[in-house]
Amino acid sequence: MLSLKRILLIVDGPGVMTHTAPLVTSLLKQGVTVRVALTESARLLVGDYFTTMLSGTPLVTFPNIPEKILDDSDAVLAAPVSEKLARRFCEDDWMAIWKRVKGPVAFAPGFLPQEDGSEIRKSLADMGGGVIHWIMAEGEATDMGSLGKLDVASPERCLEAAMTALTKQELAGKSILITCGPTAEDFDPVRFVTNRSTGRMGVALARMAAWRGADVTLVHGPMSWPVPPHDGIHACPVRNAQSMYDAVMAKIDGADMAILCAAVADFTPIEYSTVKIKKQGSSDGVFSLKMKRTPDILDSIGHKAGRHPFLVGFAAESDHVQAYAQAKLEAKNCDMLCANDVTKPGSGFAVGTNQVTVFKRDGSVTELPQMSKEDVARRVLDMALAGMGGPAAG
Ligand code: C5P
Repeated sequence: MLSLKRILLIVDGPGVMTHTAPLVTSLLKQGVTVRVALTESARLLVGDYFTTMLSGTPLVTFPNIPEKILDDSDAVLAAPVSEKLARRFCEDDWMAIWKRVKGPVAFAPGFLPQEDGSEIRKSLADMGGGVIHWIMAEGEATDMGSLGKLDVASPERCLEAAMTALTKQELAGKSILITCGPTAEDFDPVRFVTNRSTGRMGVALARMAAWRGADVTLVHGPMSWPVPPHDGIHACPVRNAQSMYDAVMAKIDGADMAILCAAVADFTPIEYSTVKIKKQGSSDGVFSLKMKRTPDILDSIGHKAGRHPFLVGFAAESDHVQAYAQAKLEAKNCDMLCANDVTKPGSGFAVGTNQVTVFKRDGSVTELPQMSKEDVARRVLDMALAGMGGPAAG
């Protein structure tokens, strides 16, 4: 959890009605202190108490932001920003103000249909002067009722950008490949074999790595957990173990680190029926499925000829956790292996927490306490970074 990080959120125009509550609450959930500054037009749409009650801090108004608040802010986020305000922000007096802020300054333009978004985008691209980072909508549009559609980055995209702005970029320039989620092994057009993985642990790893500046390739099976809208996360959806193997092998060269936490099926049906298998086809009421081993992706990277990335495996165990994990670390030639006991409450599938024990090549064993999957991800990345010879983050 980030502590004592302060963000100044400037809000303008009709987006205050749809974006401000989810953005402020999700920032608060990440432990960030949010100071909200409303423009006059935003104040017309929501009362001053709205933002004060929401953020838990006294309201400030734009443009009269006290110097102390600017000086105390670790980052400034203006979301959404109308065309008029964006142009005002880029004038000399405000550019001087942005340069005073300790951390990054990010703007999410929010345009209504009557504003020419494409024209504005082109001119805005040159106006940042190296100080301002623009968070652009990627096909997202928010329905503003009678006003029409507001073309603005979603609160989720703004959150990802804000958290990245507030996080030390110690993985900048590093390329990380992550596998996650279950795989689905089809045996006719409607049926398949899968498992209980939701992909949540792998998504947390991708997210925490992207916040630290890494370029993440996320090869994932059919997950029930969403991929966060972060520019540094490149999702590569696959379906079965073989397609996950193919995608990983095509992308592994050039990766500095690979974290394999997908729950890959160990077996896949030998035969695929192109037509739905009929229950009448079984005279004795028994249906058996013959299956064969899938390729082991972790093992293949571990034994790949030549240099391979810093390799982290995961192991979900139900018994003899330590012995099985140590054996897997050796057998699959990993640098680090994170094991969890899926029979323990609050550890494993479909819960927000996990409790892992980390085994390293040097023989060290670190039992982490039960934590949120995001916090587990932070600790795993710290340890991997230390293992690669980089700084261990706090
Ligand atoms: O042997 P086991 O399946 O328990 O090993 C778990 C680790 O191996 C995980 O990191 C998982 O992502 C990886 N794995 C893999 N390909 C498989 C099976 C497991 O990459 N076919």
